[in-house]
Amino acid sequence: MARVKTIGILTSGGDAPGMNAAIRAVTRAAIVEGYKVFGIYRGYEGLIHDDVKELTTESVSSTIQRGGTFLKTARSKDFMTEEGRAKAVETLKKYNIDALVVIGGNGSLTGAQMLAMEHDIRCIGLPGTVDNDLAGTEHTIGYDTALNTIVEAVDKIRDTATSHNRIFLVECMGRDAGFLAQNSAIAVGAEAAIIPEDQTGQDQLAAFIGRGIRKSKNSSIVMVSESGKSGGGAMHYAERVRNEYPDFDVRVSILGYLQRGGTPTAYDRILASRMGVAAIEALKEGQRNIMIGIQHGEIVYVPFSRAIKQDKPLSKELIHVLDVLSI
Ligand code: F6P
Repeated sequence: MARVKTIGILTSGGDAPGMNAAIRAVTRAAIVEGYKVFGIYRGYEGLIHDDVKELTTESVSSTIQRGGTFLKTARSKDFMTEEGRAKAVETLKKYNIDALVVIGGNGSLTGAQMLAMEHDIRCIGLPGTVDNDLAGTEHTIGYDTALNTIVEAVDKIRDTATSHNRIFLVECMGRDAGFLAQNSAIAVGAEAAIIPEDQTGQDQLAAFIGRGIRKSKNSSIVMVSESGKSGGGAMHYAERVRNEYPDFDVRVSILGYLQRGGTPTAYDRILASRMGVAAIEALKEGQRNIMIGIQHGEIVYVPFSRAIKQDKPLSKELIHVLDVLSI
């Protein structure tokens, strides 16, 4: 296989804190290796519309601490079509890009997989999403920062919940994954988490009320995953509390997009830096169509087909810990 000389890098899908640190790491590691690096702006949209600029070591100076992504991001509908992907390949050819590094979540890595399969492009993925829902990696870039942001916000909500003796349903991101809800619930000392992964078939709201929590406590915090495929969401559950348990004073706080912003934590910066360097190592080794992951503290290569399978279970131990501690 011909040696890589030029790489492209893009961020795609929802932004996540630490993406800049990842771009920086990929760019610098590539330059050290003698590669030319092109930054592709606005994700796959930029690839289709030739929004490309060369990156130097200076282009990524002072970016490691910044949230968001300076390459911008998008959810490209055109890239979901064969014509769109064919146009994207024209741009890759125009700049002689022989490998592409994609930083993003499920949809973005699915796009990379399609590009790799249809056009034989060497693609390496980095898991960049606050949802932590990519399989084969214990953590995704941005998840730790979002989790800490949620914890900081909910600690404040707890003050008002306690002062008013209220139940607060706090909705957090995660699409169809409950990692943010479950782990933030443990970290803030919440009384329950309502998550999409619950396989017990039990009514999670009824189970929480049924535990008699309000008898022993003045206030309750329940972390609720935003409504994805499973329906639900904090508004839905608040409506149910009002109808089914009218004695309780319930309020909703939807944390929304503040969860995706802010300066990345040290953990996310280090993770992004390690993964960025690993992406270039992987290309040097001739790897293709894999996502860089982290398992037991070590870098691992995860085939795209595995990473995007959407079968990353929440550990039962986490569910047990919250149950035990929320008495
Ligand atoms: O995938 C990251 C995420 O923040 C999800 O948690 C959320 O459902 C989604 O993106 C929101 O997407 P958008 O930015 O397109 O509204």
